[in-house]
Amino acid sequence: MAILPIARMGQPVLRMRAEEVPDPTASEIKTLIADMLETMKAVNGAGIAAPQVFVPKRVVIFTVPPSRSTGDEFDQPRGLTAIVNPVIEPLTEETELGMEGCLSVPGMRGVVPRIKKLRYHGVGPDGAVIDRIATGWHARVVQHEFDHLDGILYPQRMTDLSLLGFVEELEAVARGMAEAAED
Ligand code: NI
Repeated sequence: MAILPIARMGQPVLRMRAEEVPDPTASEIKTLIADMLETMKAVNGAGIAAPQVFVPKRVVIFTVPPSRSTGDEFDQPRGLTAIVNPVIEPLTEETELGMEGCLSVPGMRGVVPRIKKLRYHGVGPDGAVIDRIATGWHARVVQHEFDHLDGILYPQRMTDLSLLGFVEELEAVARGMAEAAED
């Protein structure tokens, strides 16, 4: 396994449509997933897509950490999901706002509207079909990571760019507000 370099916003690989994987069970895909996992863990991420490690293939990994899960039936905490050639089918037109960050846009966060409920399917590296419904944070991470496969970064999904900021500043403001509330 290896920790791979992460592509940051500005790299062409993040703007292109990634290629379908003809054989999701190929050993090179298993190696890629193992390397993506090691890379994601090294930077404390909850998800990463292959283009973010300069590999323009339709492969994504993610978790639903207990701290992010809303506890909803379709948003339970989950260990690692690795999915190849994933497809999303929205189950509602309703969206909700939530904060996102991205390993390819380090140091920043923004408020992004995402579809509230969707179905997604694809194939795991063991060849098993993955077919799930997702809501809440689960639906959000799926939309964020799958977008990477179509060359889309979360700021492109934002409808109000005044809600894009540096993590350090957002946290300082939040601390200030918490202190003011105590006064
Ligand atoms: Ni990202």
